Amino acid sequence: MSKLSPKSVFITGANRGLGLGFVKHFLGLAKPPTYVFATCRQPDQATELTRLAKENGRVRMVKLDVREDEEIAAAVVEVEKVVGDDGLNLLLNNAGVNHQERGLESLTREKMNYHFDCNVTAPLLISKAFLPLLRRAANKTDFSCSRAAIINVASKLSLISYVNKRNDFRYSYNSSKCALNMVTDILAREVFPDGVLVAGLHPGWVKTDMGGPNAMLNIEESIPKCTDTIAAMNKDSSGLLYSYTGTIWQWSAE
Ligand SMILES: NC(=O)c1ccc[n+]([C@@H]2O[C@H](COP(=O)([O-])OP(=O)(O)OC[C@H]3O[C@@H](n4cnc5c(N)ncnc54)[C@H](OP(=O)(O)O)[C@@H]3O)[C@@H](O)[C@H]2O)c1
Repeated sequence: MSKLSPKSVFITGANRGLGLGFVKHFLGLAKPPTYVFATCRQPDQATELTRLAKENGRVRMVKLDVREDEEIAAAVVEVEKVVGDDGLNLLLNNAGVNHQERGLESLTREKMNYHFDCNVTAPLLISKAFLPLLRRAANKTDFSCSRAAIINVASKLSLISYVNKRNDFRYSYNSSKCALNMVTDILAREVFPDGVLVAGLHPGWVKTDMGGPNAMLNIEESIPKCTDTIAAMNKDSSGLLYSYTGTIWQWSAE
């Protein structure tokens, strides 16, 4: 069982798939967070999340389209009102898109830009917006995901060495997740002096709308491993890319 014990966690894309799985997992912890901010684009259609929020007062639904700057700013104000001087402990940049189109034939500027907006620009700008609250929660002698951290949900498909052995021609998704790795690395170094940990996390190939029915793992198999991996992160984890199993994937060469 994960030793993760943030007082507050903010999860994007929490109405379905892995995001909803994270919400359920956090609520089931021996010491659940006091506040689980669960975002969705269309609260009126987020049936399961609404039910969870009605059953459990720890769940706070927040409307957020990650491409909308005004909604990001409003979310920060909403969270700050609740967490106050304690700040925010854990930001999980989970929302993402993968339109699965392959090859040049179907590729357009619009599709590339959409993937980069959702998978790269949005997690970076959301991190920037929440940084003051994360800094408030940080303690420079305790780098951990229970204290002050940003986890970018990453993908093995971001790794050139993995993709180039497979005939995988998903330009938009793979290159956007590759760019997210760079964002994780740079952001980790910039906010390290503040005591904020930043890392990438590949959740495995998981049966969700995105992963499809042939994926290797159920959500219930992936999430506890993801949270165990997050729980074990420390000062040396910042700027790294982890698999859900805890393996660290290198992306650099001297
Ligand atoms: N499943 C896998 O095998 C796998 C593998 C590696 C990495 N990942 C990563 O894991 C994360 C979650 O994936 P998943 O499998 O749970 O996918 P999913 O089932 O397709 O869910 C995606 C989530 O992202 C949200 N989202 C998409 N665009 C958004 C936007 N503009 N604003 C706010 N929310 C938005 C969706 O909300 P709506 O319902 O409103 O669309 C939904 O909640 C993604 O970052 C994905 O790249 C997944």
